Amino acid sequence: MVDTLRAARASIAPLSLVATVDERTVGHVMLSACRLDALPRLVDVVSLSPLGVLPEFQGRGIGTRLVAQALAEADNRGIPFVFLEGSPHYYGKRGFSDAAKRGFRPPSLRYPPGTFQVATLSSYEAWMSGTFVYSDVFWALDCVGLRGERLEAART
Ligand SMILES: CC(C)(COP(=O)(O)OP(=O)(O)OC[C@H]1O[C@@H](n2cnc3c(N)ncnc32)[C@H](O)[C@@H]1OP(=O)(O)O)[C@@H](O)C(=O)NCCC(=O)NCCS
Repeated sequence: MVDTLRAARASIAPLSLVATVDERTVGHVMLSACRLDALPRLVDVVSLSPLGVLPEFQGRGIGTRLVAQALAEADNRGIPFVFLEGSPHYYGKRGFSDAAKRGFRPPSLRYPPGTFQVATLSSYEAWMSGTFVYSDVFWALDCVGLRGERLEAART
């Protein structure tokens, strides 16, 4: 997924951040271009995905720091929103909130409740609301939402 996102043409260049311990890469997060289909026009936004920390380094705050740095980098680039699909328990404490409750429409009906999330950054303007649209890579790799038993399990 990361390789495909890096190779794709995009309105915003993908950004990878890594966490290192003793020069070993132990964590990674990626921001990549997506769009918000707002009424006046399309808005360039980014998706935070994937995020991963090696199992033996989890639970030490590395993921938290990667998410915080990713939000800071997006803000520095004048990007108004970072969207993702993920655990509200995890991301809710790290700058994200329920995007559906904020009035945004998800790109799929296959998101478990509460997992469509957004972080609002400083270049946000009040008119920027609408449908979040993933880049083609997420669709090509079928990485939007869940299907089948995983979706059913997440809904119950
Ligand atoms: C999710 C993940 C990135 C967190 O990284 P981390 O460095 O362990 O996270 P931190 O140490 O900063 O934070 C620990 C918190 O993460 C929570 N956590 C760890 N794994 C989690 C998971 N899979 N789902 C939800 N919460 C998780 C811990 O319970 C703890 O919760 P707290 O905020 O209540 O204390 C890491 O566990 C991971 O790589 N998991 C596998 C890949 C994955 O699920 N990525 C996210 C896809 S959306």
